[in-house]
Amino acid sequence: MAKAVVIDGPAGSGKSTTAIELAKRLGFIYLDTGAMYRAVTLKFIKSGLVDFSDESKIRSLLSGTKIDFTPSQVGLRVLLDNSDVTDEIRADEVDEFVSEVSALPLVREFMQAEQRRFAADNDIVAEGRDLGTYVFPNADVKIFLVADLDTRARRRLIQKCADNNQLDSFRQNLAKRDKIDSSRRHSPLKKADDAIEVDTSKLDFNQQVDIIYQICRKKFAS
Ligand code: DC
Repeated sequence: MAKAVVIDGPAGSGKSTTAIELAKRLGFIYLDTGAMYRAVTLKFIKSGLVDFSDESKIRSLLSGTKIDFTPSQVGLRVLLDNSDVTDEIRADEVDEFVSEVSALPLVREFMQAEQRRFAADNDIVAEGRDLGTYVFPNADVKIFLVADLDTRARRRLIQKCADNNQLDSFRQNLAKRDKIDSSRRHSPLKKADDAIEVDTSKLDFNQQVDIIYQICRKKFAS
């Protein structure tokens, strides 16, 4: 049976960088479920969907949606309906709407089915919000990554090469997304009872990867 390591946690807690390196060390495939929600958000924005209660339009947009990941020399590329959207899905406009779009039950059901299909045939390190609680309740290793709001905002600032005076707006955007992600009705951001919590606020990158890698080694050696 395929193996699954899942890493959940709020935006900016270090999930992506950790999951990518961990997948490399374990020889597993990295699955970025946030990128999938971002891709569909981009599709909704581009198709001019403004009324998120329009279920028939959402259904018809989703039914023609294809999301793929392809490895490249500069990392994993995200393909939406065969077009490379790797950079576009990180745009501010997508940041603005992604929590709202990912709270829609139709969107979540579509994505979760895709994620389970992907994991059925591959050993994965997947990152998201609801993986340990909802999508992969039987995952071999469940990690819940956290970091304080200030640390997370600073990381985002560096990631986006933004100016220091934008720190407050990053902080506000993260706090708003945390609130929507953890209070939505369908599969909210939540630590699974059997997940191991790792606080990365005071850890550097190598330390946080090492901690989780050792947890995985122990699990897969047994
Ligand atoms: O990890 P990220 O910031 O790229 O995720 C973008 C958004 O997608 C985030 O605000 C919440 C949503 N998301 C989700 O609801 N469930 C997941 N498994 C992954 C992401």
